[in-house]
Amino acid sequence: MTYAPRLPRLGTHAAWRDAARRLVHISPEEIAWGWEDAAPSMFDAPLPEPISDLKVPKAFANLSSTLMAERSGRGFALAHALLHRIQSERGLLSNRADPHVAEAEHIAKDIRRDIHKMHAFVRFREVGDQSARRRFAAWFEPSHRIEETTADFFVNRFGDMDWAIVTPEVTLTYAEGSLSMRAVASVRPDAEDPLEQLWTTYYSNIFNPARLKVDAMRAEMPKKYWRNLPEARAIPGLIANARARVTEMREAGPTVPPPQARLRTEPEEKMTSQTDLFGGQTVADLRQGASACTRCPLHGPATQLVFGEGPPDAPVMIVGEQPGDREDLAGRPFVGPAGQLFDEVAAAAGLDRDACYVTNAVKHFKFVQKGRRRIHQKPATSEVNACNWWLEQELGAVDPEIVVAMGATALHALTGKGAGILKRRGTVEETKDGRPVLITVHPSYLLRLPDAASRARETELFRADLARVPDLLAKRAS
Ligand code: URA
Repeated sequence: MTYAPRLPRLGTHAAWRDAARRLVHISPEEIAWGWEDAAPSMFDAPLPEPISDLKVPKAFANLSSTLMAERSGRGFALAHALLHRIQSERGLLSNRADPHVAEAEHIAKDIRRDIHKMHAFVRFREVGDQSARRRFAAWFEPSHRIEETTADFFVNRFGDMDWAIVTPEVTLTYAEGSLSMRAVASVRPDAEDPLEQLWTTYYSNIFNPARLKVDAMRAEMPKKYWRNLPEARAIPGLIANARARVTEMREAGPTVPPPQARLRTEPEEKMTSQTDLFGGQTVADLRQGASACTRCPLHGPATQLVFGEGPPDAPVMIVGEQPGDREDLAGRPFVGPAGQLFDEVAAAAGLDRDACYVTNAVKHFKFVQKGRRRIHQKPATSEVNACNWWLEQELGAVDPEIVVAMGATALHALTGKGAGILKRRGTVEETKDGRPVLITVHPSYLLRLPDAASRARETELFRADLARVPDLLAKRAS
């Protein structure tokens, strides 16, 4: 063994890429990858010069970036081993029987599950009221080192408020439109007094002892307010320990978090049906929670919730737009004309609808009343976003091998981008939580085509798209 690249807790992927460009042609046995906080290695020969025009398949880029979160450092080594080998074995990643590929996929799946849990279970509570802007904080203990990966999700979803997410190793802080991340060790707030503790933890973590300016701090937070501020309790200790902490932060690595723990931090009156999910996330629990959902106005005029249905561990999840008139009355997805067409074409494609979990991006029917008819209305982005909560929960609970996005609304809900569906159809992309998603059109699109010839042509294309699903599943299983 000759080389021992050590990677930082934050900025990990960029650092790995830099090292990988230098080590791509070095055999994996000659490298001991590790985190910066790992014990120093005796084998730390200077790394070779980087290769500037290294090209990798997109699937590798996605997989390697996920592997970076693996806690032991094995993810770095696996990503490198794959990179090293794909230089001469271009199709390597599609060989799931290969031990490196299989291990990497297994770890990546576990990490994606952890990311999904963090998206779903971070619970903010409001903290501090001295500032003009509202502030929220949450404590979370991920299994993998996923804070950096998940940060964008929280910025996108909660960009209209200031917040901090504190984990045992990292604090993410979003204030006035800007995100900062710091690798600092924190301890779980005391469940007896979560609000004050959490705020103190948050404050202690955004406090940078290396930049201590007591006068400026006093000016920003005059002492007379300290008495009423929970975080002020931390200030004397922080000031007193500042120098020691600078040294400590330099020397000490982050602590390994205790086993997964969940802290329910929202005050009772602020809880919505979502928090009922803490007891477990079966599809039945989710359906029950969603039946009381008021996250968007669509629950008002609709007859009832139309939640997903199918085997709770189905390998395939089919996602449409929203229930139509017939679905709204029946309380079941895809039972009207679009559903019948889907069933027929799916069967012709070798896909058994009853073996799939079938759901929609939006769970209530949106319509305008015209006389006695209820005319379908496309859901607004805000409604799709609001309902994304449930879709993400369904993905986590069913944990399908493959997701099928039918139409632009489903595509937007699953990948964050719905434009250009006709160009993207028939291809496989990734959902926001890293699952393969096959893209196709919505069956209603076929029903709306004006002439029989184009309908026949498009139906055949739709069949061909769906026929990829059994193939993709078989490939994943082999
Ligand atoms: N269209 C959809 O997208 N979903 C349904 O359930 C029915 C029609």
